Amino acid sequence: MADTAIAAGKIPPGPKITPLDLAAELLKGDPQIVRDPYAYFSGLHEKYGDLVYSDFGVGSFYITDNLALIRKIFVSEPRNYAKADAYLEAAHFLGNGILNSEGDFWQAQRAMVQPAFTKSRLNAFMATMLETGRHAAQHLQGQADVSGLAMHIALENICRFLFGSDFAANEKTIRAAVEFGNNFISRRIQMPFKLPIYFPSLSNLRFFWHRFELDQILYRIIDERLASPQRENRDLLGMLLAAEKESQGGKVRKEQVRDEIITLLIAGHETTGFTLAMALWLLAADAGLQQRLRDEADAATAGGQVDFEKCPLSEAVVNETLRLYPAAWIIGRRLKADEVFEGYLLKKGAQLQTGIIALHRNPRYWSEPDRFKPERFLGENAEPSVKQAFMPFGAGPRKCIGSVFAMLEMQTAIYTLLQKYRLSRVAGYEPKIEYLFTARLKEALPVVFEPIA
Ligand code: HEM
Repeated sequence: MADTAIAAGKIPPGPKITPLDLAAELLKGDPQIVRDPYAYFSGLHEKYGDLVYSDFGVGSFYITDNLALIRKIFVSEPRNYAKADAYLEAAHFLGNGILNSEGDFWQAQRAMVQPAFTKSRLNAFMATMLETGRHAAQHLQGQADVSGLAMHIALENICRFLFGSDFAANEKTIRAAVEFGNNFISRRIQMPFKLPIYFPSLSNLRFFWHRFELDQILYRIIDERLASPQRENRDLLGMLLAAEKESQGGKVRKEQVRDEIITLLIAGHETTGFTLAMALWLLAADAGLQQRLRDEADAATAGGQVDFEKCPLSEAVVNETLRLYPAAWIIGRRLKADEVFEGYLLKKGAQLQTGIIALHRNPRYWSEPDRFKPERFLGENAEPSVKQAFMPFGAGPRKCIGSVFAMLEMQTAIYTLLQKYRLSRVAGYEPKIEYLFTARLKEALPVVFEPIA
């Protein structure tokens, strides 16, 4: 019966692209999917519907914004799908940490890391987030690059969470490695024909050099910690080492610990740094909204901690930023078996991609989709009416492990900065976003910080 359904499944409509068409487009420069992914995805769905098929000249791809299919892939039947091939490339940098791993191995590793993200652990970390924000807010005056500022805040927070130290001495090396790694991996994902990664080309060698430098730092920290076990359990590294010893009969798989830590370090600061920078830039255009946030900040931080029950506006501002500028602008899976969805054949081995950036602006789910309107997330008629139309952190069991951490740190940073400064935009500067493995700002983005008397 199932075989009959599969045999009867139709191929969804989509563009016909030959390898020559693809080569010609690549010769012209970046393809549209990375130049303007919103126009790319919405254009495809407008022309072909909510399930599009093409081999794009290089392999079988489905592009979907069908919410029933999205729910099936991510929430109700996630085990039937593997991570998309892009994650195989990311694994050259991140190894086999919980972002890339699959099946029972992933489940065991996620269970090991998850306890670091409980409500009580995050509450205990709140004072550090406030300190990071206040520290970053100390010496701003006149124009400052919000991209650099936000990356610094995000990196400091994640380093303190992972290792219990602020890590300033290593910031330059980490940021250079992450920037190069993100670019390098993203180019490999886009290239239909590529040299093997171990071919000694200049860019491959530079990639391995950056990875080596980052590894040196991480292995040194792991070794130091193993030599002073009394510090165990106070931060994520300590918890992970203790869990490792328990599950491995007293031993520690150092390479696996490196893979988990580098995954959290990279997934945990690039995305947040980009989102926070965009939020500050959006806020810089609205003095009234800044004042409402300042009032909310004063009430919420009155006790020296942050009472996040009293923070709906900052939550809405961050959500609205994530809607308009999702750092994870595309999320994909690979089909493990043939199946039929609404009469269409989905082929084993093909990749299934969702353009989150277009879903988040789809007029079916959002009023005035291109407008920055944080109030849409507030009140009885809050948008979207359908849950899966908003998934900046993914969905289902593989939803971002750091989503609450990220929200809290961005809200805290916005509060601490606005309590000290009025922000305004600098004429002539617009954000230049590059759509790599995750989205990031290509250039500095200056904003004026005027101290509040
Ligand atoms: C604005 C900030 C962030 C965004 C937009 C974001 C987005 C995402 C998305 C969309 C996924 C799911 C990917 C998929 O299903 O293929 C994900 C997974 C993940 N994120 Fe985040 N993330 C953010 C911040 C963080 C932070 C702060 C951390 C760590 C502290 C983190 C760690 C991870 C990890 C480890 C995974 C893999 C989870 C798993 O597969 O079990 N992320 N993130």
